[in-house]
Amino acid sequence: MRDGAKRFYVTTPIYYVNDIPHIGHAYTTIAADILARYNRLKGNEVFFLTGTDEHGQKVEKAATDRGKTPKEQADSMVDNFKNLWKKMNVSNDAFIRTTDVEHIKTVHWFLQMLFDRGEIKKRNYAGWYCVPDERFWTEKDLIGGNCPDCGRPVEQIQEENYFFLMSKYQERLIKYIEENSLYILPETRKNEVIGFLKNNTLGDLCISRPKHRLSWGIPLPFDDNFVTYVWFDALVNYFSATRYLAPSVHCNDWWPADHHIIGKDILTTHAVYWSTMLMALNMPLPGNIFAHGWWTVDGKKMSKSIGNVVDPNAIVDKYGVDAFRYFLFREVPFGLDGDFSEDALVRRINTDLANDLGNLLSRFLTMADKYFEGRINVVESSGDFAQECVKVNESINKEDFWLRLQFNLILESVWNIIGAANNHIAQKEPWKLAKSDPDELKAVLFNIWNALRLIALAIYPFMPDTAGKIWKQIGLRSLTDETKESRAIFDWDWKPSYEIKVSKGEQLFPRIEKKEEKQKPEYKKEKQKMTEGVKELIAIDDFAKVELKVGKIIAAEKVEKSEKLLKLNVDIGTEERQIVAGIAKAYTPDDLTGKKIVVVTNLKPAKLMGIESHGMLLAATDEEGRLSVLALDREVKQGARVK
Ligand code: ME8
Ligand code: MG
Repeated sequence: MRDGAKRFYVTTPIYYVNDIPHIGHAYTTIAADILARYNRLKGNEVFFLTGTDEHGQKVEKAATDRGKTPKEQADSMVDNFKNLWKKMNVSNDAFIRTTDVEHIKTVHWFLQMLFDRGEIKKRNYAGWYCVPDERFWTEKDLIGGNCPDCGRPVEQIQEENYFFLMSKYQERLIKYIEENSLYILPETRKNEVIGFLKNNTLGDLCISRPKHRLSWGIPLPFDDNFVTYVWFDALVNYFSATRYLAPSVHCNDWWPADHHIIGKDILTTHAVYWSTMLMALNMPLPGNIFAHGWWTVDGKKMSKSIGNVVDPNAIVDKYGVDAFRYFLFREVPFGLDGDFSEDALVRRINTDLANDLGNLLSRFLTMADKYFEGRINVVESSGDFAQECVKVNESINKEDFWLRLQFNLILESVWNIIGAANNHIAQKEPWKLAKSDPDELKAVLFNIWNALRLIALAIYPFMPDTAGKIWKQIGLRSLTDETKESRAIFDWDWKPSYEIKVSKGEQLFPRIEKKEEKQKPEYKKEKQKMTEGVKELIAIDDFAKVELKVGKIIAAEKVEKSEKLLKLNVDIGTEERQIVAGIAKAYTPDDLTGKKIVVVTNLKPAKLMGIESHGMLLAATDEEGRLSVLALDREVKQGARVK
């Protein structure tokens, strides 16, 4: 391994083999892929694991229905996942199946050790059992005497079962989570687990099923009449893979994992069951369990019965894999719930990808071609733009973002560089420099080239294909090879040791034209007609009379004796203005200082409560009276025209 390189182990849940993968599964797996790719790029030794969970009653039943063995049934489903991961550009190093012989051996080893240490005990057990759901309930869980989950009748069952003595780890677990601030993320999920552990008495965990009720499972090594509870088998996969699937070139000891990426639905099994199982064996705990949020589709829960399950294959066929990957991690902060819609995806493609990124690359390539026949002159670069790039580049690689998996903040930083580069071109007006100052033109093009190099590196974990295309078009050799050769390539100051000749290739993200009006669903058409009727239309010239500019709030204070008014000092680029605005109920002066807003700058001055107001800021108010000041979603300088 390279000096200073670390080993990095990341996992996804192992998915139930009976379901067809949808965008939720793709989301988790791509998140892990982003981490794996980033770490490989940084020279770390990576093990990225995904796989399938194949035991349990559902698989057994599906097999019986089709006249197959459970293993045959599982075999027939596994390729759905493997093929999807290929299509999504997922770079997993291994794929574990819980039916692998080596995994089963490890589960045996795990169970036997726990049993030998007295951590597993046989007990008599009475409870209400829901046969189709394969679950026990206590008396007070039941609703009207039926299963609280599916509403079907339950049976009273008395039987012997094996229990993992989980309850004794309650205090130790609370302490561990509190002392290791990154153990459970995001913060809200961690608080949820702590709250649960502090307000409830942790029970022992029933880890067996009698064979006569379920045969499709791993037999207990110390009692052949029972099979293991499916979670006890599934969680062990993270450890068993390190024994037979992990790369062994530089490292033989892959446990513990750095991150288990999961959805919030399975947080308890990971944070409580898995953690205490490891504690009982004195094994190290993983570095982090990250439970992300839930995707809905067009505002509804995805379900087979509604028929709104989004097939990631179809989305990728239509919009391309990188657009899909980008959308998932830009649209919603990782950790929060999100809503998927094709409209939102198309908006991201057209603005962020086609407009901001795609245009930057193509403008740059056109200029390089036109002025220097594609040759880039390497110069010493300094100035505001260079400084800004250095700063943003630091934040892209900020360790804290990567430790806390704040993907959207990383992408926002990348788009700050893209915005700054587009601005730089607009400000420098290279078409004029071509006549007046060819040396300065060389410098501008080199700076943009350099920014594109850093942009390509930064987006690589998220959009590997696009990064590769940019890299090639700006005349660099293979992205992954270059990063292996020298760490310095991540710095602004890196200079190529060979001649750079850029060459325009295919467009990165062609704009997606809006659907024809007539294809719009009826209810959307109606709404549009109604809003159109409200006011008469104006010509573009009328609108151009209004001068709108970006202003930066320098200071804000309350206007005495007024509940509503704030007095603001606003820098609009060319001068400082005093503006009085009726927003005191929605914002404190502290909220506003430093904010960039949109100001009408050519309004006749007026007096409010005796104070002169020279301009007006734009704000939206809804029917409930909630107010929001219009702000900008990326960095532009005060004084910029808004049109
Ligand atoms: O629970 N939004 O497997 P599973 C976001 N075999 N993520 C979603 C999602 C959605 N709507 N739907 C599914 C199991 N996911 C067990 C795991 S691990 C040792 C055993 C993702 O096939 C999310 O990661 O039900 C969730 O945790 C996982 O799929 C559940 O997959
Ligand atoms: Mg599930």
